[in-house]
Amino acid sequence: MTTRSIIRKKGQEPIVMVTAWDSITARMAAAAGVDMILVGDSLANTALGYSTTLPVTLEAMYHHASAVTRASGETLVVFDMPFLACCGNLAEDVRACGRALKECGCQAVKMEGTNTDLVRALVGQGIPVMGHLGLMPQRVHQYGGMFVQGRGEDATSLLASARALVDAGIFSLVLECVPEELGARAAAELPVPVIGIGAGRHVDGQVQVLADLLGLAPGKTPKHANRYAGLFDAAVEAIGQYAGDVRNRRFPDQQHTFGDT
Ligand code: KIV
Repeated sequence: MTTRSIIRKKGQEPIVMVTAWDSITARMAAAAGVDMILVGDSLANTALGYSTTLPVTLEAMYHHASAVTRASGETLVVFDMPFLACCGNLAEDVRACGRALKECGCQAVKMEGTNTDLVRALVGQGIPVMGHLGLMPQRVHQYGGMFVQGRGEDATSLLASARALVDAGIFSLVLECVPEELGARAAAELPVPVIGIGAGRHVDGQVQVLADLLGLAPGKTPKHANRYAGLFDAAVEAIGQYAGDVRNRRFPDQQHTFGDT
């Protein structure tokens, strides 16, 4: 899968994207045949156990992205620029983004917000960029929580930001937690694929955090997500059985042991 084939899917077929954070999750996503894998900064609040996405470092993202691309096969892998990763000078920011391709083997970067100068500079260096508007989790403290964005009058400025990103050269746009009408308008008016997460049914594709989809995180599933499996509960059950077998001397049994010859 390439950025070119993703662009071509617009108006033809829904685009499927999930997050992954290591070789195990990437192999699952690739085996299921998704179009794109996002090494999201949600790594922070899934695999790393933080309560927001803010603490994850660029180095940690590189480390995990490299693990993902070792198992992603032909699936397009997008690297999410974490909080404050792109606030140096333009050349430093381009280098930081470029490392995701050069060292980690990703094919594109994603970034929250409207840094059109950086998008232009990246595209100028041959680095494909996915935008991210609507709810931007890196702004959680500015919002004072995680709320639906782009309601009422705000829809106009959000669409203007999206157009500015398109003019700067993004190949696709993630739209997070906006009213369904706004998601539909964005998909209809923008020439690039709009990938929704909580942006309703009428966008060009969907992205979900794998931990939500697989039921890997204990607790409530977000309103925009659907739990397709209960892997956390299944894992607790399996580990509990193992613990019981060890304590009752049922494991290991003879088939798990080695002879002298
Ligand atoms: O980091 C992430 O998982 C994301 C998705 C919510 C799109 O940015």
